[in-house]
Amino acid sequence: MTARIIDGKAIAADLRARVAGEVARVKRDHGLLPGLAVVLVGNDPASEVYVRSKHREMQAAGMASFEHKLPADVSQDELLALIGKLNRDPAVHGILVQLPLPKALHAETIINAIDPAKDVDGLHPNNAGRLAGGFTALAPCTPLGCIILSKTVHASLEGMNAIVIGRSNLVGRPLLQLLLNENATVTIAHSRSRDLPRLCAQADLVYAAVGRPEIVRGDWIRPGATVIDVGINRLPAEGGKMRLVGDVAFKEVAEVAGAITPVPGGVGQMTVACLLVNTLRAACAIAGLPKPAV
Ligand code: GUN
Repeated sequence: MTARIIDGKAIAADLRARVAGEVARVKRDHGLLPGLAVVLVGNDPASEVYVRSKHREMQAAGMASFEHKLPADVSQDELLALIGKLNRDPAVHGILVQLPLPKALHAETIINAIDPAKDVDGLHPNNAGRLAGGFTALAPCTPLGCIILSKTVHASLEGMNAIVIGRSNLVGRPLLQLLLNENATVTIAHSRSRDLPRLCAQADLVYAAVGRPEIVRGDWIRPGATVIDVGINRLPAEGGKMRLVGDVAFKEVAEVAGAITPVPGGVGQMTVACLLVNTLRAACAIAGLPKPAV
């Protein structure tokens, strides 16, 4: 069997176009210009790449994008003061503090200072708790993207066996909640789980989000399963270059799975597209408008 490749690039482009259409509508009908503020502390090269792409896609969708670059030695108080200012700024509907933060800063305190209505990362305890309770919430972008990709293969995830490998606040835990909201049967596995291959063998849907290159092997996968690879690992390649690989051994798994996301070109593109969705939704909610059509 050779798996169908889930084209994250095309699916994300379609989503961005639908967001742009809704942005044009709320601008025209309500004079609302959704705006996102991204805060980047220090100069981690991977974070700089992500932040640039967020800025570019926001502008392409017709939204306002504000970048705040702070030095790596910025104090906790200075960063909290900036967040307070963004919380009060009516042109800002979404606030994203790029992670990871330098060790001297206390990430939890910083995230808790973000107005939950502007928390487009879905990391504030109010949003995480609301999501866990099955209530309307801003949910983290990468897991939202994973659900959208899964639904391009299966119209409904109801009753399916899903395994999420990884329990981070940014991906694994919120993905568990989103899958439960879709009425899937969910197993969450992590570094201490026993016999991962056996757990995976039960799954119709496999989500790999551990950050370990190619850990998920072909003989772990139930024939025909859908495999969503959230990993982005940079490995050294020939000529001093870097090579991107996921958490899934792509070639092996593609022989067995029914559908699979590639790396790059899978989940990665969806994260930024879902950030646009969350910013638009936050802007409409803050302005007291109905939920947009995306
Ligand atoms: N770093 C890597 N992915 C993300 C993300 O989705 N949000 C934030 N804030 N930081 C990240």
